[in-house]
Amino acid sequence: MSEATESYRVVDRVFERYRNEDPIQSALIPILQNVQSELGYLPEPALDRVSQLLRLPTSHVYGVVTFYHQFRLRPKGRHLITVCRGTACHVKGSKEVYELLMKELGVTSSSDTSKDGLFTLQQVRCVGACSLAPVMKIDETFYGNIDKAKMLRILSQHRKEAQG
Ligand code: FES
Repeated sequence: MSEATESYRVVDRVFERYRNEDPIQSALIPILQNVQSELGYLPEPALDRVSQLLRLPTSHVYGVVTFYHQFRLRPKGRHLITVCRGTACHVKGSKEVYELLMKELGVTSSSDTSKDGLFTLQQVRCVGACSLAPVMKIDETFYGNIDKAKMLRILSQHRKEAQG
C-alpha cells in the first residue's frame, strides 16, 4: 500500500470519530494527534487529507503542525531517546549527555534520527525524575545518573537486541 493510500485510509477512519464536531475545524488537533499515533508521524498526504476534510487551508494545517513540538513531519526511529534538559539534569551534565548522544548516533539539529533508523533523539524540559539527574528515557524506560559509559552500554544493548 502506498504512503498516500495508507495516509488517506487512516485520516478517513480518524475523521469518522469527529465528524459530528461543530465546527469540525475544532477537531483539528485531536485528529492530528490520532493520525500521528497511528502512523508514527504526519506524512504530507495525511496533512493534505486533513486539510481537505476539515475545509482548512493546507497552510493553516502546516502552521499548527509546526507550532506544536508534539507533531512530527518525519518518520521516527524504532526507539525514541529522550534526554531531560530540565534544571536538575542541566546542572548534572545533561547538555554533555545530549551532545554525546548526537555524536554517537550521528544526528544533527536538522536530522534527529540515526541513519540505521533505530533511534530518534529528542530533548524535553523535565521528565519528573529529578532525583535521578541526569536522566534519559528510551521509549518508556527511565535511565538515571547517566554518564558516557552508562549511555554507551545502554545503546549497545539496544543495538544488540535490534540485531536479534
Ligand atoms: S529536571 Fe530532569 S527529571 Fe526533572
